[in-house]
Amino acid sequence: MQTQKKIVVLSGSGISAESGISTFRGGDGLWDNVRIEDVCTAEAWRRNPGRVLEFYNDRRAQLATVDPNDAHRILAEMEKEYDVRIITQNVDDLHERAGSTSVLHLHGELTKVRPENCCCEEDGFSLKYVQDIGYRPVSLGECGGPRHRQLRPHIVFFGEAVPNLEKAAAIVSQADILLIVGTSMQVYPAASLYHYSPEGCGIYMIDPEDSPAAAVSGVHHIKDVATRGMAEFVKLL
Ligand code: APR
Repeated sequence: MQTQKKIVVLSGSGISAESGISTFRGGDGLWDNVRIEDVCTAEAWRRNPGRVLEFYNDRRAQLATVDPNDAHRILAEMEKEYDVRIITQNVDDLHERAGSTSVLHLHGELTKVRPENCCCEEDGFSLKYVQDIGYRPVSLGECGGPRHRQLRPHIVFFGEAVPNLEKAAAIVSQADILLIVGTSMQVYPAASLYHYSPEGCGIYMIDPEDSPAAAVSGVHHIKDVATRGMAEFVKLL
């Protein structure tokens, strides 16, 4: 039996833009309107957890109103022919809702929370305390259980470790083809992942804008939005 080609996808907020979710940087990005230091750092959580909860409650509520787009759907469809592994910086659930079965979230998930005092294991937080809450809001004073404190978003705040990083690097190191889609590759350590691709691995990037990552020699840049870019990528395979 022939083994399927392994396509590893590194996705970012741009893949969800056509679903109506904001990207983070450039032209009306989320971080142009909200300060990272107010909502997405451990310090912000300590200082004003109510504000942080409100920010993520709003984003969770918005997520309930949007749908996956054709870029998510094409990736899910590709599983019929390829071994597709998605590593996403996105905290939305649009890859899963489109039907992709192998999705590793680097920066957490909007639909999940955990108690702020759940113990940290060497490789990150203990997953047994992570709860799926769907799209509902979390309020100040809401605890994870009798011995647990306030529920916090299951989001990797700036300055926190990225628990799935090693797993992601191992996946990238097995890629036959690496596809980078909808990410400015400005946030580390996620942006360093493509260095783990093995020699001979074809690297494609879908982004309507130029970026330093797209200019790296050997990277095939499909300069278009994710939906059209994905259709083009499939033709090139
Ligand atoms: N299709 C494809 N790409 C698009 C589209 C689109 N329709 N619209 C915009 N883009 C591209 C932009 O040109 C940009 O290169 O998507 C990229 C989005 O980049 P960022 O806004 O920096 O988002 P991302 O790379 O996902 O951010 C990484 O930063 O703060 C965070 O934790 C957050 O996971 C996030 C991380």
